Amino acid sequence: MVNKNIPVRIAGVGYCVPDTVITNDDLTKLYETSDEWIYTRTGIKERRVVAGNETAIDLGLVAAQNAIAKSGIDVQDIDCIIGAASAPPKLYPPLSATIGAKLGIKEHIPAFDMTAACTGLIYAMQVARGFIHSGIYKNILIIAADNNSKITDWTDRSTSILFGDGAGAMVMTVAEDGVDDILSLKISANGAIGHYIETGVPSQCCPLVKQADEVASGKILMNGKEVYKFAVTTVPKYVEECIALSGLTAEQIDYLIPHQANQRIIEAIQKRLKYSDEKVISNIRYYGNTSAASIPIALVEGVEKGKIKLNSTAVLCGFGAGMTWGGAVIRLRDGIC
Ligand code: UT7
Repeated sequence: MVNKNIPVRIAGVGYCVPDTVITNDDLTKLYETSDEWIYTRTGIKERRVVAGNETAIDLGLVAAQNAIAKSGIDVQDIDCIIGAASAPPKLYPPLSATIGAKLGIKEHIPAFDMTAACTGLIYAMQVARGFIHSGIYKNILIIAADNNSKITDWTDRSTSILFGDGAGAMVMTVAEDGVDDILSLKISANGAIGHYIETGVPSQCCPLVKQADEVASGKILMNGKEVYKFAVTTVPKYVEECIALSGLTAEQIDYLIPHQANQRIIEAIQKRLKYSDEKVISNIRYYGNTSAASIPIALVEGVEKGKIKLNSTAVLCGFGAGMTWGGAVIRLRDGIC
């Protein structure tokens, strides 16, 4: 258990998506599918993808700059960077360190990436919270950025319809007013069902020994049906547990900002919480599943479009490869995005 003594403030949130839009109709050029099939099963109409030399690092840099600007914290005062990156352009150097350099941070502050796939933001928030609570670091930048399109199997129509590229960022700091913005936060994993979503690193054995029977393609492999069943059974119940832990009731929380994986999964959580459509933030229609970035993108865009009023509370929830899942009840202060 974390020794909770220094309270945490969520100071700034930002996002960035690439300009290139791929519609469901565009996908019909790749394989037999239709806008109707994709939309009715997922709620997705289009997604954004990086093009040419653009990568998750470019997206993550802009998201980080936006979050830092909103936080009012000087970039040179950031003392730790955590990358939530499961489909980064390179396994190393970590995306967090590369973006830290591009931000012009002069001190040699720690920077590392962690892989919790679509639950990455919530996992990173838990790590940052622990650092801040214990006084190890004060101003932490989280960058959730993936270029999923680069590891998508574009011949597999059951997975490539889902994913899109994007980045989100969050600055967490010490709450000088003593009000902790994280009312509850829980993360979990079950590696026994890890094979539901996998991306292997293409590799080889030493040429002097017997080679492995199979070599990973480096593409996303997913058992969509199992992931769907897992999500609709585990996640809604887990969200209720996170709410109970926060000391609030579901009615007292203003918004549900879920990971944007499938509109039908979002609706299963909404039904469980008995929330009206106004309380549920969904933008999957425009971006598909942007993995760890989907929650911050939905949050900031929700504020920009007037769907979310700040000075409010929200329950976040995510799930993805691992299998990992997590939830949090947070305060959304004025001015964070
Ligand atoms: O962050 C976590 C990320 N992952 C998820 O959230 C995934 C959750 N799972 C899902 O959202 C759904 O499983 C999918 C939308 C991916 C797929 O829906 P499904 O109802 O589970 O479809 P399926 O893969 O079982 O395929 C049903 C049928 C098959 O045809 P037959 O064998 O019944 O003739 C597929 O070949 O639909 C076919 N199909 C398609 N048809 C048109 C699969 N993909 C497509 C497609 N267009 N894009």
